[in-house]
Amino acid sequence: MICSCFQVGENQIAGAIAEGAQSIEALGNSLKCGTNCGSCIPELRDLLAVSVRESA
Ligand code: FES
Repeated sequence: MICSCFQVGENQIAGAIAEGAQSIEALGNSLKCGTNCGSCIPELRDLLAVSVRESA
């Protein structure tokens, strides 16, 4: 579980990134993660960074 406010797990986030969400804002738009308390944002950023590295 990455975002406990909205029960969003790593798999969902990785899926959204794979579908084109390339920013914290885009993830928030599709999954709501990061739009409440914000404590998961560093983890979202890490997942985004990993996906950028893998697709580079
Ligand atoms: S844990 Fe994600 S917004 Fe609070």
